Amino acid sequence: MRVLVTGGAGYIGSVVGAQLVAAGHDVVVLDDLSTGHADAVPPGATFVQGTLRDCAAEVLSDGIEAVLHFAAKSLVGESVADPAKYWSTNLGGTVALLEAMRELRVRTIVFSSTAAVYGEPEGPVVRETDLTRPTSPYGASKLAVDTTLTEFSRLYGFGAVSLRYFNVAGAHSVSGSGGSGGSGGSGGSGGRWLGERHHPETHLIPNVLAAASQGRSLQVFGDDYPTPDGTCIRDYIHVTDLADAHLRALAACRPGEHRIYNLGNGAGFSVREVIEVCREVTGTDIAVETGPRRAGDPAVLVASSAKIQSELGWRATRDLRAMAADAWAFTQARSSR
Ligand code: UFG
Repeated sequence: MRVLVTGGAGYIGSVVGAQLVAAGHDVVVLDDLSTGHADAVPPGATFVQGTLRDCAAEVLSDGIEAVLHFAAKSLVGESVADPAKYWSTNLGGTVALLEAMRELRVRTIVFSSTAAVYGEPEGPVVRETDLTRPTSPYGASKLAVDTTLTEFSRLYGFGAVSLRYFNVAGAHSVSGSGGSGGSGGSGGSGGRWLGERHHPETHLIPNVLAAASQGRSLQVFGDDYPTPDGTCIRDYIHVTDLADAHLRALAACRPGEHRIYNLGNGAGFSVREVIEVCREVTGTDIAVETGPRRAGDPAVLVASSAKIQSELGWRATRDLRAMAADAWAFTQARSSR
């Protein structure tokens, strides 16, 4: 199938693009490179640099049958400081894409949504039926897209799937092994790694690994949460497992239906537990400084992925150790270049 991957030069879009190429799809990446990297576009994909507003219609008109939509701004803190940017890019950009799809009769879309749509969770495990009360413009803009997709499915017969990610981590080996597998290990077989390269980097695992490789300390944002060790608990999912869910979602799109699935491992790890796994994987004694809480961080955020497991047969197969090991392999591959 000829598919468009918007944001395919970013962390998650590039890994999904690589998996689509590996599965035999004809992949076109559209990315404005505002936060993505041209060298992350998966080998075998066609690359078009541009925005959704300027370029979506032209790219779609070249035989595209389905869209996987990642292009977005994704920093919670930045969204609080500059909400208009998030409404304009995340909602406005997506509406431009959907309008172009409607006009060109491309009606299949898989959307990169987020746990941030739920805000402060109602209970220890978040289900798709829980209330959506986003606490940031980022989460609100992604929820608005989910709502728009429901409407486009109902009104225009779009077949859509939204995947609400929890904490995505790890790196993907394009050499074909897809990383180190379920039990951790040394990573791919000398191939190319696709991983997380945000500027600034806000996510925990890349920050812990940067602290390890640069011999500096990691700042822990708060140890007075109501959790067993006082630090926040999150549900981490390997980017390769996440990509697998996208391929299943693409195959599951049905005209007139908008399905929404959470994507996580269903198990929570505290910030201190993540640091400990990273210490083991890197063999480095990472220094830690405890600072104040980061605004807007819920104490516990863990997904129920029961729905995608039962409806699409998806399972997470890579554990936290594999995520840390693969992210570490990516970090080392980059620092040796
Ligand atoms: N943390 C630190 N130090 C760091 C970075 C993070 O202590 O240097 C802590 C955070 O305070 C949090 C945990 O590590 O408790 C995880 O933080 P991340 O930034 O890695 O991830 P978040 O849970 O904040 O973000 C995730 C998704 C977002 C989504 C958000 C919704 O990555 O896309 O959940 O709450 F918006």
